[in-house]
Amino acid sequence: MATLRFSSRPWAAFLFVLGLICVLLSPAVAVKENDFKKCEQSGFCKRNRAYADNVASHGSAWASPYKVLPEQVSFKDGSLNAIVLKAIDDQGATVELPLTVSFLKSGTARVTVDEKLRQQKSIELRHGSQARKERYNEAEGWAIVGGLDVDSEATIASQGDAGIKITYGPNAAFEADITYSPFTVAFKRDGVTQVKLNDRGFMNMEHWRPKLEKTTKPEGEESGEGNTSEPAPSNDESTWWDETFGGNTDSKPRGPESVALDITFHGYEHVYGIPEHTGPMSLRETRGGEGNFEEPYRLYNSDVFEYILNSPMTLYGAIPFMQAQRKDSTVGVFWLNAAETWVDITKAKEAKNPLALGIGAKTNTHTHWISESGLMDIFVFLGPSPRDVLKSYTELTGTTAMPQEFAIGYHQCRWNYVSDDDVKEVDRKFDKFNIPYDVIWLDIEYTDDKKYFTWQSDMFKDPISMGEQLDAHGRKLVTIIDPHIKNVGGYHVSDELKSKGLAVKNKEGKDFDGWCWPGSSHWIDAFNPAAIEWWTSLFKYASFKGTMKNTFVWNDMNEPSVFNGPEVTMPKDNLHHGGWEHRDVHNINGMTFHNATYTALLSREKGELRRPFVLTRSFYSGSQRLGAMWTGDNQASWEHLGAAVPMILAQGISGFPFAGADVGGFFGNPELDLQARWFQAGAFYPFFRGHAHIDARRREPYLLAEPHRSIITAALRLRYALLPAWYTAFFHANQDGSPIVRPMYWTHPSEEAGFDIDDQFFVGSTGLLVKPVVEKDKTSADIFIPDDELYFDYFTYKKLATHKGKHVTVDAPLESIPVLMRGGHIFPRRDIPRRSSQLMKFDDYTLVVVIGKDGKAEGELYVDDGDSFDYESGQFVHKTFTLDGSTFTSANAGGRDASSVKKGSWLKQFDNVAVDKIIFVNAPSKWSSKKEVEIESGGNKTPVSLDFHKAEGGRAAFAVLGRVGAKISADFSVDFS
Ligand SMILES: *[C@@H]1O[C@H](CO)[C@@H](O)[C@H](O)[C@H]1NC(C)=O
Ligand SMILES: *[C@@H]1O[C@H](CO)[C@@H](O)[C@H](O)[C@H]1NC(C)=O
Repeated sequence: MATLRFSSRPWAAFLFVLGLICVLLSPAVAVKENDFKKCEQSGFCKRNRAYADNVASHGSAWASPYKVLPEQVSFKDGSLNAIVLKAIDDQGATVELPLTVSFLKSGTARVTVDEKLRQQKSIELRHGSQARKERYNEAEGWAIVGGLDVDSEATIASQGDAGIKITYGPNAAFEADITYSPFTVAFKRDGVTQVKLNDRGFMNMEHWRPKLEKTTKPEGEESGEGNTSEPAPSNDESTWWDETFGGNTDSKPRGPESVALDITFHGYEHVYGIPEHTGPMSLRETRGGEGNFEEPYRLYNSDVFEYILNSPMTLYGAIPFMQAQRKDSTVGVFWLNAAETWVDITKAKEAKNPLALGIGAKTNTHTHWISESGLMDIFVFLGPSPRDVLKSYTELTGTTAMPQEFAIGYHQCRWNYVSDDDVKEVDRKFDKFNIPYDVIWLDIEYTDDKKYFTWQSDMFKDPISMGEQLDAHGRKLVTIIDPHIKNVGGYHVSDELKSKGLAVKNKEGKDFDGWCWPGSSHWIDAFNPAAIEWWTSLFKYASFKGTMKNTFVWNDMNEPSVFNGPEVTMPKDNLHHGGWEHRDVHNINGMTFHNATYTALLSREKGELRRPFVLTRSFYSGSQRLGAMWTGDNQASWEHLGAAVPMILAQGISGFPFAGADVGGFFGNPELDLQARWFQAGAFYPFFRGHAHIDARRREPYLLAEPHRSIITAALRLRYALLPAWYTAFFHANQDGSPIVRPMYWTHPSEEAGFDIDDQFFVGSTGLLVKPVVEKDKTSADIFIPDDELYFDYFTYKKLATHKGKHVTVDAPLESIPVLMRGGHIFPRRDIPRRSSQLMKFDDYTLVVVIGKDGKAEGELYVDDGDSFDYESGQFVHKTFTLDGSTFTSANAGGRDASSVKKGSWLKQFDNVAVDKIIFVNAPSKWSSKKEVEIESGGNKTPVSLDFHKAEGGRAAFAVLGRVGAKISADFSVDFS
């Protein structure tokens, strides 16, 4: 939820006064695009685009002013240090930019450029600013948690006056080829350039300079610095010293300080990533032309009201990580910068042989990264697989936290459940209609006057009894806690925030005051370790009264949203802990608040240590360590339903896969079919929550008439049956960063026809291929088949006539979800419907074996207590299932010997959990004569009946082993020979 808006609610009164000023001036109802800058309106973006245009117009005559001083290059222990000199005038004046290129053990290379004067703090700030003088160098401290060990095996391959070549990476297959004049770095794999920095000469680091007070000069005349080798447009001083947008003026005490660089992906036609945006997963070009955007992709975390689709406009979160894909090769870059950032993308054919234009021409993707301030700090990943790139990226920024198990069940939310009785009633209704759910949510109205950590006591008279009723069926409560703290005396949270000095400061160093839900507010500065500590104290059960062990938290508005601020956020010259300007840290701000809440929930009383669950709206690289995200305030329209899957896929391939979209759409009232289709899609979102705006009609699934109620119930039960498979997919995300829902290019990087497909996906490694129906009145789905395997309908076992690279059409009337099973996989399920995931914890399993073309299949189950960190000390079960020819085997994954693990209470109880059924889809016909097979476990052989069903009317043959009885945690095998 939500943004500045009008409504008949009481809190709208103050907004109205405020709103008169800003809203009535721009009476647009849908997205207020004009509230947000275009590149043209953002001084540094405009200057750098102009710089690029000027460079491009000079062609090969252009001489980049950035050169490395050869005599100062040193290389030691996997790190190269040098000085890049930037020529700033014709008289030979230069600026020194210290350069470090480090080669990391993972095979990742890092290029960092700083500014010497600023490292030395030898600059003057204007307006008596108290801001730090260095370029922001603490993004690493928030985003990066590992993988920085340098590779001392990296070696100099050659060195001369013109440059230096370093070999590094696995089997020394990578090379960084650094040229000195101009400064460029080409990253090669097996001798072929993959990624090149400053390829087109757009590198631009606006150095610090004093403001020269000049006498008025005629229009259009150059600045008083003399002629520079920089192109004139970058000397457009109009936004150097201050900048006004939408009535807000940024005082810019350090003047212009942007960093920009072009990065070319040689031979790559597709680039993905840099969420959060709407639009296709395969990113579009941004400099105009048929089918292209006119604007760069923008990363400046913002509370965008009623966001538009298919747009490079910024949204709530930012992950400046991009990967490029061509057949059989994936590479990537991570632009570690927390300031406002824009990314231009263009693609161009490059002929291998200039005489044979068009023939054998490969496409290069050119990107241009532009940030307002901070270091130039880039990580380069050379793959070669999508898995390698994501693994390297998440080695740096961390992987998805193992979730609270309930968090992958269904969440029921609306703005707002108005009282504890309302919550209890909704809870009872779900039960009455046998609809499973795990969590009910409270939006801002549960608080006393938007004072977080308090209850609206008329409506929530007894929160504990509410929590207890939920707990009776293993259900949870999530309450919203936002970073804006109502500025009012006598409210202990506000009083403490102020007295302890833990709020974000304005440019004068006073507590920054802005408007948000509570009216006048201050913002916790979660960059400050003391603020995190204080925040932690507020969540203690004894402190946040009315909460219990089954209460978890939702962080909204943490971009931060400031209703009366520039672009609905904080002024850039606000000051954070350590003296950093908000400008420097903006995109990380949301993550620091998420981190504070995560830290608070780790332990809410002495001795407790549990996995937090915190949903966030704003995020940055690394937020995946802290919880889930959702795509913000979408709309109840078919278009928004369709837009959600590419957005969720983009999150998954960008290291933050615990993602979902508001099911049903936040704004508006979904028609019944739309709501049904949305639940069917949502059942395959990693984060699955229904949500609705305060003005939207009630739409809890049980309110719907038939057939929609049953259709939604079936989708929810499907989600619950597959929870073991989802949890296993989360485990993989936690291990190596792999996405939970996986696009075609990720699973099939050799299949070029799948590279721009973003409306279907595989669930983890289950082989389940899902294509949600997202169009009105559509009753079929065309599914792209990425390989030569066999595919079967999930529900009917119908064998589909598939061919690699072709589309297969499946029927998808309203009551059905297009889900295919790929041959060769085994996935776990729990088939007894229950009210919540907790009530299924010790249920027996069904294993579904989908036999592939070669008669084989394999799969996995990972399970732990779903709540504590005991899995870190071995309290988990991880099985690998294989059907190899004629034997089905269940064994501990990786040959783990679990016998030495001292069993805790969960593991002891879990030991009794058994395999109930094993279903073999596409069972060999020779099994038809068997009535019984033997299961061997721990030396005992037990006969079990086999129920074989012949292939019939297009349906594959299948066999069911019933009442298997083998314990799921034990090794066992079944012999079919
Ligand atoms: C500065 O540049 C202008 C335009 O390119 C040129 O006419 C002029 O001679 C230059 N002045 C100096 C001092 O180099
Ligand atoms: C949260 O932030 C603190 C302080 O920077 C850091 O030590 C901790 O590792 C962060 N937690 C996570 C899970 O990233």
